[in-house]
Amino acid sequence: MADEGFTHPRLAAIYDALDPDRSDLDAYLRIVEEFGAREVLDVGCGTGVFALLLAERGIVAVGVDPALASLDVARGKPGSERVRWIHGDARELPPLRVDLVTMTANVAQQIVGADAWRETLRGTYAALRPGGRLVFETRDPARRAWEEWNRETSYALTDVPGAGVVESWVEVTCVAGQLVTFRWTYVFASDGRTLTSDSTLRFRERAEIEAELGARGFVVEDVRDAPDRPGKELVFVARRP
Ligand SMILES: C[S@@+](CC[C@H](N)C(=O)[O-])C[C@H]1O[C@@H](n2cnc3c(N)ncnc32)[C@H](O)[C@@H]1O
Repeated sequence: MADEGFTHPRLAAIYDALDPDRSDLDAYLRIVEEFGAREVLDVGCGTGVFALLLAERGIVAVGVDPALASLDVARGKPGSERVRWIHGDARELPPLRVDLVTMTANVAQQIVGADAWRETLRGTYAALRPGGRLVFETRDPARRAWEEWNRETSYALTDVPGAGVVESWVEVTCVAGQLVTFRWTYVFASDGRTLTSDSTLRFRERAEIEAELGARGFVVEDVRDAPDRPGKELVFVARRP
């Protein structure tokens, strides 16, 4: 099993508390405004933070995620009845015709396999109306972000309402080509239990992503910076013609 951080109920329940600064989503809200999107599909919606922000603003929001425990957290939040939640991924969506598809917080990197990535792009294309856009971010591999992921830089003691104090840190366990594997460790003070979550991310090159988007029928309109993480991210804006 992998990515327990999203799939284990106890870890999904503390995801938001351990990463409370969601100013990364401001840029996505501005993109929704920029393109006048009224219906948005958030792929890899996780605990639903972005989909709920959209619904609050009167946008028709659909959130899809393969991690049921994260979706359960989303479904338990105030206003969640205004969002359509789908358990699964972009490869198996019901018929949709949204104005915008988003993948926030580097979801694209979670989709490691070549076939899964291709099928995700195919699925998002099918979910868009002609003229609609796919916007997603991925860490610029040139910045080698994983070199700064270690116990010292990540160590935190967080007092989580309802869960107690949680000690957490990350360690990189393997770097192989584009694939970076790392392990988060969580120690719960309330019962002394330790849980771990192993993840692998793919750090794709810009040209490779542009080619893949083009092959799936998208027109790449722009590759932007993430304003809250200058120089670190590639934010793709791709249009279904
Ligand atoms: C870092 S979390 C980001 C969650 C959310 N987008 C946010 O901004 O908080 C990555 C999410 O990607 C989801 N994920 C993993 N593989 C996926 C796939 N193939 N398709 C869609 N989502 C996926 C995980 O379940 C997890 O919820």
